[in-house]
Amino acid sequence: MTVTTPPASRAAEILSRPIALNGLTVPNRIVMAPMTRQFSPGGVPGEDVVSYYSRRAAAGVGLIVTEGTYVGHDSAGQSSRIPRFHGEEQLAGWAKVAEGVHAAGGTIVPQLWHIGMVRKQGQPPFADAPAVGPSGIRLDGTEGEGRAMTRQDLDDVIRAFAEAAAAAERIGFDGVELHGAHGYLLDQFLWAGTNRRTDAYGGDPVARTKFAAEIVAAVRAAVSPEFPVILRYSQWKSDNYDARLAETPEELEAILTPLAAAGVDVFHASTRRYWLPEFEGSDLNLAGWTKKLTGRPTITVGSVGLDGDFIKGFQGEGSPLKGIDDLLDSLERDEYDMVAVGRALLQDPEWAAKVLAGRTDELKAYDAAALKTLS
Ligand SMILES: Cc1cc2nc3c(=O)[nH]c(=O)nc-3n(C[C@H](O)[C@H](O)[C@H](O)COP(=O)(O)O)c2cc1C
Repeated sequence: MTVTTPPASRAAEILSRPIALNGLTVPNRIVMAPMTRQFSPGGVPGEDVVSYYSRRAAAGVGLIVTEGTYVGHDSAGQSSRIPRFHGEEQLAGWAKVAEGVHAAGGTIVPQLWHIGMVRKQGQPPFADAPAVGPSGIRLDGTEGEGRAMTRQDLDDVIRAFAEAAAAAERIGFDGVELHGAHGYLLDQFLWAGTNRRTDAYGGDPVARTKFAAEIVAAVRAAVSPEFPVILRYSQWKSDNYDARLAETPEELEAILTPLAAAGVDVFHASTRRYWLPEFEGSDLNLAGWTKKLTGRPTITVGSVGLDGDFIKGFQGEGSPLKGIDDLLDSLERDEYDMVAVGRALLQDPEWAAKVLAGRTDELKAYDAAALKTLS
């Protein structure tokens, strides 16, 4: 007689396993994906932000990656409502967020962010700051506002990331995630489309990885050896879904190897649909390849629990729900280790609790109205 395990208990069994990320033990495999919310006036996360994250930790999210938060460099961002990870008041606000999440039984890392050439001139919080990037080239290939980073700029930004990481450990966070994805500063160095440098930071994939690797090394040196350092990266860019850093596993290995050697403990491989194979000839997705090539724990992401396109969902078309059986299969085979959930967790703070308890009939389809509140 064949006994089939009910899907509910299978989800609980596979997702509830704790995992060690360097010195941190995360109670389960569910990660909240980083999501910019713009609810922190003056760059200070307030009590509503504390509740927003704590509510999700209390309802079973094992690891929260915060929204992208600017490192201490004047050109890092372009909104006064996006939280900053520098400044006394800002860090005091963040300390309360970490405290709230811990009290709820969760773990939390800030996502440290510099937007590079995405920045438009004249924007807050530092209106006079220029956009800077590897070559002064925007994601669409145009030149104009902004400039190529000088040696001084490179040093300043490396130091800003290291200082933010040290602050994260000091004020009680469990690790850090470096935002190296989606066409922002670190990714602008990784991607040939925006990196035309002729010095040691441009050229082949290994040279283009040098800046990100130096940031990882500086962050690693600024925190305790057991403090986890996560790097998020992607092939896709925010306005160019077809862009690719690597066309083959060999090219991907050339990029990931120096990053792992510099001290990345965990890779967060950002894709828009987790079920898509990354390269021909294998079913592995980007997280699967990342784990295979580096041996490091990896996080997958992209439309988990949704069946819809990321941007359509963003623009307001509700995404129908998709089963997660194939995701559980890959986790069970240890192709990757953790799964990040974005929009489904915005919509429903109880998403993790419902999935872990098999109450999937209670899950709600995503509606972009969820973007407007911090509920
Ligand atoms: C409102 C919103 C804000 C986002 N902000 C960030 C961010 O700050 N940093 C980041 O790396 N990704 C960001 N993302 C991408 C998400 O982390 C995630 O990769 C994406 O939403 C796909 O996951 P999902 O299909 O589960 O939503 C954002 C996504 C949304 C919907």
